[in-house]
This record gives sequence, C-alpha cells and structure tokens, in this order.
Amino acid sequence: MSNGLENIVAAHTVLSDVDGAAGRLIICGHSLDELAGRTSFEQMAGRMLGGFLPDWPAPDAVPAALAAARRDLFETIVQTASLPLRLGPVELVRALTALIPDGESVETALKLLAAPAVFTPAVLRLRAGLEPIAPDATLSQAADTLHMLTGTTPGPQQAAALDTYLITVADHGLNASTFAARVVASTRAGLVSAVLAGISALKGPLHGGAPGPVIDMLDAIGSAQNARPWLEAALDRGDRLMGFGHRIYRVRDPRADALKGAIRELGAETGRLVLAEAVEQAALAILRERKPDRTLETNVEFYTALLLEALGFPPEAFTCVFALGRTTGWLAHAREQIAGGKLVRPQSVYVGPRPQAAA
Ligand code: ACO
Repeated sequence: MSNGLENIVAAHTVLSDVDGAAGRLIICGHSLDELAGRTSFEQMAGRMLGGFLPDWPAPDAVPAALAAARRDLFETIVQTASLPLRLGPVELVRALTALIPDGESVETALKLLAAPAVFTPAVLRLRAGLEPIAPDATLSQAADTLHMLTGTTPGPQQAAALDTYLITVADHGLNASTFAARVVASTRAGLVSAVLAGISALKGPLHGGAPGPVIDMLDAIGSAQNARPWLEAALDRGDRLMGFGHRIYRVRDPRADALKGAIRELGAETGRLVLAEAVEQAALAILRERKPDRTLETNVEFYTALLLEALGFPPEAFTCVFALGRTTGWLAHAREQIAGGKLVRPQSVYVGPRPQAAA
C-alpha cells in the first residue's frame, strides 16, 4: 500500500514529464522555457489535443472554433441558467459546466476548453450585481477572458501574460485532478464528466485552491519585517504555508520562475512583488530550519496568486483560471486514457472487523 499513491506509476503518457529532482517540466516534447511566453492557448490546445481528437480543427481554424464555442456557451447557458449565487465562483463554474451535454466529440472538447473562459467572468459579474459581457469573436481566448471580466479589450501585454499562465499550468503529469479526470474517463463516462472530476479535485487547498490563500497571507503579513514572526506563528499553529512544498519537486518548481518572469514583463506594481519576494525568502528559510529532512520549495501557486491578481482576477476566482489552463491537460489525458488504458480499478486491503461466524 502506498499512502497517497506516492511513487506509484498509473499511466504511460506522451503529454508531460515532471522531473522533480532537476526541476524540469516537459509538455508534449517541449521544455516549459520553450513554451511559456511563446505559445498561445489556442496553439497549446492543438499541440495537446490534436492527436487525440480526429476532427480537431487545423491550427489556423482553432481561434474561430473556440470563439464559436464561447458564443454558444454564452447564449445557451449563461443567458438561460438561473444560478444559486450564494455558491462560490468555482462551484458556480462547475455547475454551469455540468450543463454541457456529455460526449467524446471535438465539439464537446471545444466547449469544455471555452467553458471556464466564459463562465468565470460571467459568475464574477453576476455575483457583483453586474450583467455578464458577451464574448468577442475577434479576440483570442486569453484576451476575450479579460474582456469579459472587465468590459474593456486588454492590451497585448495582459493577454500575453494570461497566455503564459495558461500554458504554464496546462499539464503536469499525474497530479490529483488529472488522475481524477483519467479515472472518470476510464469508465467511458464522457469528457464533461472527466472535466467535472478534474475541477472537483482541483479546488482543494492542497492542490489548485492554494493561490487565493496566498493573497490572504500576503495581506495579513503586510510588510517585509512582519514576514518572519507571522510565518513562525502560522507554523506554530500547525498551518501549512500556502504556495510551498510539492509531492514531486525537491527543488524549486520551474513554473514559479516562468510566472515571476511574466509578472515582471507585465510591469505590475513592484511593491507587491517586493513584499512577495521577502515573504518567499523568509518562508524558505523557516521551512529549512523546521523541516531539515524535507525539501520544501516555492511551488507554482505562490506566483500564480501575484500574476492573476495583477491581471485583475479576484482571489476567489484563481482556481477557475487554473481550471481554464488545466482543462487542456484533463481533456488530453482523458482521451489518452480511453485510447490505451483500462478501467481504473485498484485494490484495497480490508482492515476492519470480520463477522463472528466467518472468524
Ligand atoms: N508548509 C508547512 N509544512 C509543510 C508544507 C507547507 N507548505 N508542505 C509540506 N509540509 C510538511 C508536512 O507538514 C509534513 O511534515 P511532517 O512530516 O512533519 O508531518 C512534510 O512536510 C511532508 O508533507 P506531506 O503532506 O507528506 O507532503 P506531500 O507531498 O503530500 O504534500 C503538498 C504536498 C500537499 C503540496 C504540501 O506541500 C502542501 O500542503 N503545501 C501547501 C499547499 C499548496 O501550496 N498547494 C499547492 C501545490 S501545487 C499544485 O497542486 C498545483
């Protein structure tokens, strides 16, 4: 028995390779350095899904296909669904995603790729008492997401920064949400079901729910001088420091630096970055002192929080934006599981009481 399935290999994949010792991430044959800042969401979706969906559009047709999917979701779901707005953004995005008819077709995949881009801004605006903004087919998916959030067309730097984020988190081996998506796909339940499983696993604070609390932590710390006492007190209470530690990486998560670079290129408010760097350094020093036997380094969520904040997303929506990037990976893994994998059905060892008669 391996608690948490640590070190258990459960799939062969052509999608991504996480080298935790070297701090290297390869997605579809390319290192993260080659992809981040140079690839759009549309290109990445084609690279990851093209081989798994026979009718996937040609590269120059993907932007229009995704724009049509965004328009369809806006008209058939956002404008017709009645939403329980007491739920948080990720629960609302999950509920709206569940309204997409299930299936395995390329149309279903395109709608799922478009879903968080359309639903996240819509639910944020509805919760704030504002009207949702219709998608603009002339924009890329990243630019349109920001346009639907704010009502204004973002500059190329903003759209590029969001693309960098979405590419950076597109896939990452057999993480918890991807494994959940593959388990559901293995039952042939359909791509919508697989993505819903992915969203449900992602929202937990030990996985994709961490970046919102990173902002809470930075706000509570407030100044570089307060970093060490605040972090020490948090660890004394038994809290985990959000944005640090990883199951696979024993060195710095390479995605953290890709995102830090994107924040710098965006020209975001430097005071916030200076505070974050001071908190990061203090946290790493304290974790080294307290856990000398366990390497705990900065993970992707720490700089995710800063980048998404700089792009204007509220912390409660960070997990939805993570889902926007990771849906590409969930879909590709789901299709890969169906193409070559069996029903996922591991064993458990019963350690409970046995009936008297059988003893
Ligand atoms: N802060 C303080 N202590 C930590 C942290 C942390 N962030 N992470 C791990 N530890 C400690 C644990 O308390 C444990 O100590 P112990 O052995 O004395 O009990 C030890 O390090 C090992 O922890 P595990 O939970 O066994 O390590 P695991 O590989 O299961 O955890 C995880 C990985 C869940 C990411 C963990 O590091 C964590 O909780 N981090 C904070 C949440 C976070 O940032 N999540 C985002 C991860 S990235 C992503 O999913 C996209």
